[in-house]
Amino acid sequence: MWAEWEALAGPGHRPVLELRDVRAGYGAIDVLFGVDLLVPAGQVVALLGANGAGKSTTLKVASGLLPPTAGCVHLMGRHVNGATPDALARAGVCTIPEGRGIFPNLTVRENLRMATHAGRPRQEIEDRAYERFPRLGERRHQVAGTLSGGEQQMLSMARALATDPALLLLDELSMGLAPIIVERLYDHVAAIAAEGVSILIVEQFAHAVMGVADIAAVMVHGRVEQVGRPADVAGTLVGTYLGTSS
Ligand SMILES: Nc1ncnc2c1ncn2[C@@H]1O[C@H](COP(=O)(O)OP(=O)(O)OP(=O)(O)O)[C@@H](O)[C@H]1O
Ligand SMILES: [Mg+2]
Repeated sequence: MWAEWEALAGPGHRPVLELRDVRAGYGAIDVLFGVDLLVPAGQVVALLGANGAGKSTTLKVASGLLPPTAGCVHLMGRHVNGATPDALARAGVCTIPEGRGIFPNLTVRENLRMATHAGRPRQEIEDRAYERFPRLGERRHQVAGTLSGGEQQMLSMARALATDPALLLLDELSMGLAPIIVERLYDHVAAIAAEGVSILIVEQFAHAVMGVADIAAVMVHGRVEQVGRPADVAGTLVGTYLGTSS
C-alpha cells in the first residue's frame, strides 16, 4: 500500500502527514488494523468509506486525540506518536470535527474571536473571514446555532483558517447539507488548497469531493483497502463498498 501512496504523491513530493501501519482503538476494542496513509504537501486527500470503517478514528490519531497502539505517525518528517493535540496544533494541524466544532450560543464574530490564539489580530481574522465568506460578514451578529448548515460549515472553515494551518483535517463536510451547498463548500476547499494548505478530508461518499481531491483512498474495516486517482476509485466505490448510487 505504501508504494501506491508514493507513486500517487509523485516524484519529489514532501510528505506532510504519514501514517504507517497504524493501529488504534478504544479500550479493549481495536478499530484501526494497520492504516497506511500519506498526505503530500499542497495536495488534497479524500478518505472515503462506509459507516464505522474507522475514518474519524484515523483523524483522531492524526490530530493527537487518540494515541496509536502501534505504527508510526509522522508530521512533516517528525515522529509524533503520542504528541498532544495542543502540540500538533502548534505544529500546524487543524481539525474541523464532525458536527463542525463551533460555539452555537456565540455570534459569528465571537466565534471568530475565539480563534485568536494562533496570534493573528482579531480584526484581521474577521476581515479575512468576511472576504472569503461574505455571507458570514452579513451575519456577523447572528448566533452561530441559528445559521444554516452551510453557513455553519463556512464559519468552522473560517475559524480553522485563522490558525494558519499547514494541514487541515476535515470530517464530513457534506453532512446534512444539500448537494448544491456541498459543491460550493468544496469550491472553497479547492481555493484553500490552492493557497498551499494540505488537506485530508473524510467523507462517507460525496460526489463533490472527487472533483477536488488529488488522491482518494477507501477505508474498509479499519484498513485502507484502495488508493488511487478519484476517478479510478469512484467506480469501484459506489457499488462495491457502499451499495448506493448517491
Ligand atoms: N469513543 C469510542 N468508544 C468506543 N468505540 C468507538 C468510539 N468511537 C468510535 N468507536 C467505534 O469505532 C469504529 C469506527 O468508528 P469511526 O467513528 O472511526 O467510523 P467512521 O468511519 O468515522 O464512521 P462514520 O462514517 O459513521 O462517521 C466504530 O465501530 C465505532 O463504534
Ligand atoms: Mg466518522
